Amino acid sequence: MRAYDLILKKRQGGSHSLEELKFLIDGYVAGDIADYQMAAWSMAVFFRGMEEQELAWLTQAMVESGQQVDLSGIQGIKVDKHSTGGVGDTTTLVLAPLVASAGVPVAKMSGRGLGHTGGTLDKLESFQGFKTQLPAQHFIDQVNSIKVAVIGQTEKIAPADGLLYGLRDVTATVDSVPLIASSVMSKKLASGADALVLDVKVGNGAFMKQKDQALELAREMVKIGENLGRRTVALLTAMDRPLGCAVGNALEAREAVEVLSGEGPDDLRQLCLELGANMLVLAGQHEDLDAARQQLANNLDNGSALAKLKEMVTAQGGSGREIDDPGLFPAAKLRHSVMAAESGWVESVETTDIGLAAQLLGAGRSRKDDIIDLAVGLLVKAKPGQRVEKGQTLVEIHANDQQKLEEAAAMVGAAYHIGQEQPQPLPLICGRVSHGDGSPVP
Ligand code: URA
Ligand code: CA
Repeated sequence: MRAYDLILKKRQGGSHSLEELKFLIDGYVAGDIADYQMAAWSMAVFFRGMEEQELAWLTQAMVESGQQVDLSGIQGIKVDKHSTGGVGDTTTLVLAPLVASAGVPVAKMSGRGLGHTGGTLDKLESFQGFKTQLPAQHFIDQVNSIKVAVIGQTEKIAPADGLLYGLRDVTATVDSVPLIASSVMSKKLASGADALVLDVKVGNGAFMKQKDQALELAREMVKIGENLGRRTVALLTAMDRPLGCAVGNALEAREAVEVLSGEGPDDLRQLCLELGANMLVLAGQHEDLDAARQQLANNLDNGSALAKLKEMVTAQGGSGREIDDPGLFPAAKLRHSVMAAESGWVESVETTDIGLAAQLLGAGRSRKDDIIDLAVGLLVKAKPGQRVEKGQTLVEIHANDQQKLEEAAAMVGAAYHIGQEQPQPLPLICGRVSHGDGSPVP
């Protein structure tokens, strides 16, 4: 087999066999196939697409390029959740203890933030002493004893994806649905869960700006999961504004504690209930979503989900004292309110710019090895569709550096569009896909 022939085959619209895809992926990881050949092949995929079976095989080849986590030592059906990335997406911090509090095991591997989106591991490190690396057996034992552990994803998972992503990033081939779908699914499937709930974000803060693109990505990912033997459900959810109020690590950890205490922003609570209910149904804990939502809402309101967070944080080396006294979270020295320059409706918010403003303050990374400031970030007080009066606070900035504060304030001010028309923001949950066909949610 030669890489040249496979590039030509894809360029002419052909479809690959599993053997061909394994040849390409294994050859690329081994260094036998050159970057320029893989780049040409990726561009051919960009224009020609992939068929359903072929895409499942590509994903399988990527999964098999590295370590596959064995979670069989954990009792019960393990359901994972993955978000395609957004701004202020605090869901994992709420969901992991919430789902575990309902008796369903959560063995989760998460990543760090890059660019305008944050990462769960950084948020968790806002709990003083929290360890994101655990020996494999310790991870399994912790899930068996307290039902939940969240740790960092190792580089050994789907190494083909890391290499291919780096190449796509510099060859204008990132935004190909089959390449994104196989990238996301290879990492999740190699992480060992039995079933998967995907949170596909839609809107100007997300990868997929339009609902039809997001729906296509969701369908492809659900088909890959089902073809490789894992029950998969995808929700399409709004990212035309930040989720919840907090954007920034310790601010989001604090917001998660609020939601787990039965308080906090309603949108974050609702989304966690919806994702969590789908996880409980896939785990076989409930037959219908309503009963699952009800159990989870009770656990937010009766303190059991919050108690589970404390168990997890202390099991992973933290003191958990921030949970009883949120004043102990790292806090920034400087505060500043960005105010509405005029009265009217918030017509839209440039969500990516809100994420970039938080990154500029030090909450996120522009390069993988940047050091972040856990304390800084934004509290978003006005969202699209809301009426505001002149002088009302749109966003509260938490900073540790005056110059960065001023730059972020200018960015945030420019990110808001206030007008006289009442807009129609996306509904929080804009769709649900299972078994490969998109059924809109009312
Ligand atoms: N996120 C991923 O993990 N992979 C992609 O290709 C795009 C977004
Ligand atoms: Ca948030």
